[in-house]
Amino acid sequence: MECEVLIETAPDSVGVDPVVKVTDFAAGRGWSDPTQSSDRAHWCCEQLEEGRILGFEDIPFDFPEADRQFLLQQRQSDTRVHKNISYRPKQDALHGNASERKEDAGRLHGIMRHYSREATEFLARVLAPYAAHWSLDYASFRPQEERGRKLPLHKRNDLLHVDAFPSRPTRGNRILRCFTNINPNQPRIWLTTDQFAELAVRFAREAGLEEIARNGNGRSWLNALKRAMGLKAANRSAYDKFMLRFHDYLKENGRFQGSCRKIQLAFAPQFTWVCFTDSVPHAVISGQFAVEQTFIVPINAMIHPEKSPLRVLERFAGRSLTADAALQPG
Ligand SMILES: [Fe+2]
Repeated sequence: MECEVLIETAPDSVGVDPVVKVTDFAAGRGWSDPTQSSDRAHWCCEQLEEGRILGFEDIPFDFPEADRQFLLQQRQSDTRVHKNISYRPKQDALHGNASERKEDAGRLHGIMRHYSREATEFLARVLAPYAAHWSLDYASFRPQEERGRKLPLHKRNDLLHVDAFPSRPTRGNRILRCFTNINPNQPRIWLTTDQFAELAVRFAREAGLEEIARNGNGRSWLNALKRAMGLKAANRSAYDKFMLRFHDYLKENGRFQGSCRKIQLAFAPQFTWVCFTDSVPHAVISGQFAVEQTFIVPINAMIHPEKSPLRVLERFAGRSLTADAALQPG
């Protein structure tokens, strides 16, 4: 199964395939030349840090056919499955399951647990330099058809954006995501565009980087109030505040969305792809039935931390964007 890349180049730009296919790693076998596994893993990390997407034809980890069939039936048999189903590996907890049947809920939980473990073991081999340092985040199952979803502007998946988590600030650490298209017939269609550093050159100032850098580190009065009331409050650094702002800014910017260079990626059935979604701009145009596992990778585990969004933005801002918040507990 392939990933088809359609590059629409603007007259003054050069098209580059953002997807790098890894063909020497397979489920059950691992790296085809085990003596090269360390070098290959290092190379894979460098590709990601350059802003590329690693692609794997067929599913490169154990994902039983019966499990996939069960997931495909979820949407059809239960029309109240409105949203993503998320699995929290650290708590072994499933959220968002609308199924009334207890045995179905148990089966779904077991499938997501198995998927999360297998995807994590797979990436621990392919991205070995990160594995000792990353923090396992949520996994999700996405049963909705993306085309035609009616969502508020900032939640729309079909507009180009980079990821930032409102509830889980990263303080410059990286959002790494592994996706698999489990739809047996339909590709999952993404758009991407110029890399993060290029978008930052064009838009960071207009999106408010300087003001956020000046005022942004530390706790807001609202969070201080929440804590005083015993409520949970996100401890956002200036970096987190800017990345949330940038996410919204890009989606609000109709001129950018309409006129920017677009690269269309068609991820075929069973294709698996991995990227840092905090730096690879992406929009999901269509597709139904995907699974995804997220990791938070510390910036100190990067091979080239200077290429990370945090360091790119700090060079523009001329100051640290995490200094105060890094000292405070989450
Ligand atoms: Fe996203």
